[in-house]
Amino acid sequence: MKANRPIILVVGARPNFMKIAPLYDELKSRSVDQILVHTGQHYDEKMSKVFFDDLGLPEPDIYMGVGSGSHSEQTAKIMIEFEKICIDYDPKLVVVVGDVNSTLGCTLVCAKMNIRTAHIEAGLRSGDMEMPEEVNRIVTDALANILLTPSVDADKNLISEGRMEQDIYFVGNIMIDSLIKGLKRASKSKVLEEIGIQKGEYGVITLHRPSNVDDFETLEGIISAMEEIVKENRLVFPVHPRTKNNLEKMGLKSRLEENPEIILTGPLGYLDFLSLINNSRIVFTDSGGLQEETTFLGIPCLTLRDSTERPITVLEGTNKIVGSSKRDIMSAFKGATENANYQKASIKYWDGKTASRIADVITKGE
Ligand code: UD1
Repeated sequence: MKANRPIILVVGARPNFMKIAPLYDELKSRSVDQILVHTGQHYDEKMSKVFFDDLGLPEPDIYMGVGSGSHSEQTAKIMIEFEKICIDYDPKLVVVVGDVNSTLGCTLVCAKMNIRTAHIEAGLRSGDMEMPEEVNRIVTDALANILLTPSVDADKNLISEGRMEQDIYFVGNIMIDSLIKGLKRASKSKVLEEIGIQKGEYGVITLHRPSNVDDFETLEGIISAMEEIVKENRLVFPVHPRTKNNLEKMGLKSRLEENPEIILTGPLGYLDFLSLINNSRIVFTDSGGLQEETTFLGIPCLTLRDSTERPITVLEGTNKIVGSSKRDIMSAFKGATENANYQKASIKYWDGKTASRIADVITKGE
């Protein structure tokens, strides 16, 4: 074994960056030889570069530039390019995060090359195989050597799928490390002034799941619910590129633009977005990470999906799974605004120290 074999950290899409940044810093402080690889799954400045700046991540050491495509095309491109990197750098460990196609593609390469992998955010399950992320989670967790879980439900899922206890480490939620650090800096954000809104007087909505934004009837129903909701409070809607493309294709964009109570923005940077949600009255989303962030912050969250891979946010937090029909959204909105008693959740190991626990696990024996 060469003495200087590095650890490779892989990022690809927007939700990966805030999960890798704290680990990158921690490994750097321990002088661990590491290489940051960006697959290029997300490539727009607002979907990627802004996050590196906001999170204090350096430029990636290697940028693969795979870009968009169908799931198979994107995953295949990731595999071809990542295999070359593994041949060149001979890593002793590859760290992957979350559930995006980059997570799956790089884990598959490592399994084929007998390279050890650690999966951060292992064990989450929605039970919905129509979600591309669920396929990515299941395959990644079947192959990864070190399974780093954010909550105890994830440990149980892995055990029930036959993974051995000695491969599973409950380390907590690393995204909360970034959140705690980011909150101080986010308080200086001018995003509310720029948008022209006041603390506590607006809701935020984010949508990007194919099940919500690729189907006309579903998306039209959500927009119709938004038009009702803004009779009570304004909505800020930072629009994901997938959603923007579909709104334009389906002829729905002008309907949103014409409503003065719906404020459309492009994708926001990490700190501006934190400030936006932390000062909001309520959040509507189909994102995974946002269910956790709102739980930590004590902001009511209505999840416009039929399932969640993060049940702890419902059991111990402020999240409610409401589905995507106009009727269900409206009745949940009414319930959420009538109940003003929301509190910050205190979940074990969502404490800002997860990166340190992960670094202990992955550098054990060095
Ligand atoms: C991906 C992840 C999803 C994650 C989401 C966060 C998978 C299977 N999905 O979904 O789990 O929650 O990222 O954002 O990995 N596009 C741009 N600019 C970009 C990136 C994408 O315009 O920088 C557009 C392209 O038209 C692309 C589409 O958005 O085809 C979808 O991008 P893609 O990475 O395939 O999936 P997301 O919907 O972003």
